[in-house]
Amino acid sequence: MGVKFRRCLPTDGSTGVRLAVLIVSSAAVLAAQPHYAQYSNKLAPFVPSPQPIVERMLELASVKAGETVFDLGCGDGRVLVTAAQRFKAKAVGIEISDRLVDQTNSRIARLGLQEQVKVLKGDIREADLTGADVVVMYLMTGSNAQIRPRLEKFLKPGARVVSYAYAVPGWKPSRVDRTDEQHGHTIYLYEMPPAPAK
Ligand SMILES: C[S@@+](CC[C@H](N)C(=O)[O-])C[C@H]1O[C@@H](n2cnc3c(N)ncnc32)[C@H](O)[C@@H]1O
Repeated sequence: MGVKFRRCLPTDGSTGVRLAVLIVSSAAVLAAQPHYAQYSNKLAPFVPSPQPIVERMLELASVKAGETVFDLGCGDGRVLVTAAQRFKAKAVGIEISDRLVDQTNSRIARLGLQEQVKVLKGDIREADLTGADVVVMYLMTGSNAQIRPRLEKFLKPGARVVSYAYAVPGWKPSRVDRTDEQHGHTIYLYEMPPAPAK
């Protein structure tokens, strides 16, 4: 007496089509819910970088006065404020959370940094990174992989990218900084290669 396996999926065409319609419409309903939409475009939760890490990232990227620093997912704006105040750079933050954009804009205004720092509400997967000398990221490995084509499209030769905690898959870092071995803080530094000769 052999064991009989029953097929779990319908074999006749009409039931299969109905099942496919059900799956597609359920996905559409879920995507339309604000709750799910909110998380579908989030590449990382808001977890601020510790201030010593912020300082170290900007040091490693050798930020110079007058250069432009982008923070992709700028959170509460600490990278922007440090870039402007300590490094005398211009800074642009892109952030998807309305609450964080409002909070950071108020902070920038309180500190009188409006001329140096801009905070843009938006999705970094669609961001225009033209003019960036340095890009700072604290996202996740998969998110870095999603952002990588944009960095390759927009960044000029010699621009630097610093990523806290997570590497950019497929890129070779010019430096891996383990600032605080005890707490496992790692910062990856990348430099955009020269343009290929024509
Ligand atoms: C880990 S926090 C880092 C905050 C800040 N860069 C820092 O180092 O303190 C990641 C930030 O990215 C933002 N974020 C996530 N997905 C985003 C997206 N698709 N577009 C823009 N910002 C996003 C989050 O809201 C959050 O503020």
